Amino acid sequence: MKTCVDENSQPKDTTIPVVGEAKIKNPIKFGRFVVEDDAVLVNISKRYMDKSAKSRKKVVHQYFESAGPRGKVYFDTSKTKCAVVTCGGLCPGLNDVIRAVVMTAYHQYNVPSVLGIQYGLAGFIPEYGYDVIELTPDYVSRIHEFGGTILGSSRGPQDPEDIVDALERMNVSILFMIGGDGTMRAASKVVAEISRRGLAISVVGLPKTIDNDINFASPSFGFDTAVETATTAIRGAHVEATGAPWGIGLVKVMGRHAGYIAAQSALSCQEVNFVLIPEDPFDIDGENGFLAALERRMHERGNSVIVVAEGAGQEHLEGSGKTDASGNVKLGDFALLLKERIIQYFKEKGVDPTLKYIDPSYIIRSVPANANDRIYCSFLGINAVHAGMSGRTGLVISRWNGRYVHIPMEEVTRCKKRISTCSNYWRAVLESTGQPISMRNDKS
Ligand code: F6P
Repeated sequence: MKTCVDENSQPKDTTIPVVGEAKIKNPIKFGRFVVEDDAVLVNISKRYMDKSAKSRKKVVHQYFESAGPRGKVYFDTSKTKCAVVTCGGLCPGLNDVIRAVVMTAYHQYNVPSVLGIQYGLAGFIPEYGYDVIELTPDYVSRIHEFGGTILGSSRGPQDPEDIVDALERMNVSILFMIGGDGTMRAASKVVAEISRRGLAISVVGLPKTIDNDINFASPSFGFDTAVETATTAIRGAHVEATGAPWGIGLVKVMGRHAGYIAAQSALSCQEVNFVLIPEDPFDIDGENGFLAALERRMHERGNSVIVVAEGAGQEHLEGSGKTDASGNVKLGDFALLLKERIIQYFKEKGVDPTLKYIDPSYIIRSVPANANDRIYCSFLGINAVHAGMSGRTGLVISRWNGRYVHIPMEEVTRCKKRISTCSNYWRAVLESTGQPISMRNDKS
């Protein structure tokens, strides 16, 4: 998949499809309905010119549709059945989103039934034998207190035809799909199959990834909690590193293609001396390599904290060539290799380092959401229901430039978001760690 190193990469099209004309008065009694020209500017920076235009003076203003309730809805609310599914790896806030969807559907729109599909897309396929759960307000009232997802999750695609068959069998009008870019690609295929059959079923996506690498999800839900939890591990590593002679704390965090958790928690802690991310390749050996830089730091301060994103340094490992059920390449454990290399390096120099290796990866993504993420997830769930009831489909709910918006599914799956190593953000990380700007021997 392509990567966009710039969060503000231009969308190709911001139009949101509908399953039909909304003609029914919205039953919501309180608040303001969103009007169609109440849109959110995509790029607030003037720098974003029309790159295809000959004259660079032409500024292109693109807008995302605002999320929120519309004056008219498409579905006859009291006869509407919804379904929710959670796919892929866990992430803090999944239960909060489910809860918000159920509560809004029941209490705002009087929807009589919200079904929970178990264990990801597999839950649609009869052969797996997973029952659906009737999600009532009572059933979901306390689920936000727990990490994970009450529905369970799984990786891997299923045939869109089978999924639409299941939606037809269950008489579902609106499907809420919570998952990463793989899930959103699957959702696009489901939307296409629904349209091919001429059905009026809405599909609304809620983009989820602990790695924060989904395009136009800024940040993705659960990321704030992940950073907060990672900082606890990093603080532990710092205490350990400063509590022993030649102490080194090495923390591994998730981040397959993007090092956002590593970078953001380093910024938050200000106690990290090296952040290694997939976006910034480095040498291990050599005068300008990582080990030499670490040695300099150790001679200066006697201790060091290193945070490694799981996708960093993959070029130093032999790839297994294997992929997981989502089609992601299975990564090698670079942090463990680094641990061994650090110990060996210093031993050869006659020093016995006290290295503490901490891997909080699964702890970070399985905790309940923090206060910020709870609020964020709640708004995502609420706005997903508004979007679905209005008859919109093929969209995801996101927060952009401080507002909740509708983004076409194709835009979030078009490329992955990554840290630009030329950005002021990455410069701030380097300034906080004091690590060299580049740890490559070949600086060309
Ligand atoms: O969903 C992304 C992610 O959190 C990656 O950072 C990580 O590599 C992967 O999930 C691990 O998930 P699992 O072990 O469930 O496949």
